[in-house]
Amino acid sequence: MPEKISGNIRWGILGPGSIAKAFATGLRELPQAQRAAVGSRSQEKAAQFAGEYGFERAHGSYEALVNDPDVDIIYVATPHSEHHKACLLALNAGKAVLCEKPFTINARQAEEVAEAAARNNCFLMEGMWSRFFPAMQKVRDLLAEGAIGKPMLLEADFGFRAGFNPNSRLFDPAMGGGALMDVGVYCVSLASMFFGTPDRAECVATLCDTGVDEQAVMLLGYPNGSLAHLSTAIRLSTVHAATLFGEEGSLVLPSPWWKPTRLELHRNGKTEEFTYPFESTGFQFEAAEACRCLNEGLAESPVLPIHETLQIMRTLDTLRSRCGVRYPAD
Ligand SMILES: NC(=O)c1ccc[n+]([C@@H]2O[C@H](COP(=O)([O-])OP(=O)(O)OC[C@H]3O[C@@H](n4cnc5c(N)ncnc54)[C@H](OP(=O)(O)O)[C@@H]3O)[C@@H](O)[C@H]2O)c1
Repeated sequence: MPEKISGNIRWGILGPGSIAKAFATGLRELPQAQRAAVGSRSQEKAAQFAGEYGFERAHGSYEALVNDPDVDIIYVATPHSEHHKACLLALNAGKAVLCEKPFTINARQAEEVAEAAARNNCFLMEGMWSRFFPAMQKVRDLLAEGAIGKPMLLEADFGFRAGFNPNSRLFDPAMGGGALMDVGVYCVSLASMFFGTPDRAECVATLCDTGVDEQAVMLLGYPNGSLAHLSTAIRLSTVHAATLFGEEGSLVLPSPWWKPTRLELHRNGKTEEFTYPFESTGFQFEAAEACRCLNEGLAESPVLPIHETLQIMRTLDTLRSRCGVRYPAD
């Protein structure tokens, strides 16, 4: 187990791009999170980000960031294709890591990252932020109480419309482009939270000119008979709703389910509503969980353990192979 860190947790941001801004904004909500350092491939950009988001130090390389002795945990916020390299860099420097979704490009890379964390005795967690919202905790609590009986079927979607640009990370196979990896992963992770590891996985996709999926429909089957029907897209907007049907009721996470503030419990002909408004961007919840784990000396979060992240990556590998999306890194 890693050593417990008492008191504040010192955060370093690796790859200060668009999502790092939302994460850094969320960190402001946590008194236990010290905004210690930023690392960019450009010193100027690091300094600008540090100034804007209140970080103490700016480093002009990722190497300098991970070797900063006054940083406890690195938030990896580079494009998907760069997660593997950045995580290995940070873990081999002895730093804890919170890595953005999707964890890596494929399961092989994910396994190498998990092995590096174990070898270096470092905390490691996937930044699947949806998992950590208070509304999601309520969903887990309701299921544990048996509020809808045995959960049997999940319907969930996550699609948005981006303009086609073969050079953007969203459409570039070398950068892990496609809907499945960018937002389909949220649906796969939600299904995993409810049902565990699927024993059947099918995927039908529409590929765009660069060979990545611009929309996909997934069907997952589980050993206990549960099913998930998931849709994802990067060329059209979908509803962004999730419904879990159980034998005695259903739970609805209205749009946007992946950043939930509300949930509905339907049973016995009645509807009960729960609301969980939050401040700021919502990234504070996953960051708070990482801080808690570091304070307690945990190697991984029980809310999203590494073995589950690895299973999610294997499922994504299978789904991609079913619909014919291959990356150079595969
Ligand atoms: N949780 C969420 O809601 C959410 C939302 C959006 C995205 N994400 C995830 O966050 C990650 C980053 O997404 P983003 O949209 O923030 O990406 P982005 O802005 O395109 O890139 C983030 C930063 O990565 C660095 N970088 C390192 N290697 C790079 C390369 N080869 N090409 C481009 N940039 C490179 C750059 O920083 P420097 O040049 O300064 O080093 C860049 O500013 C993705 O994996 C994505 O899936 C999560």
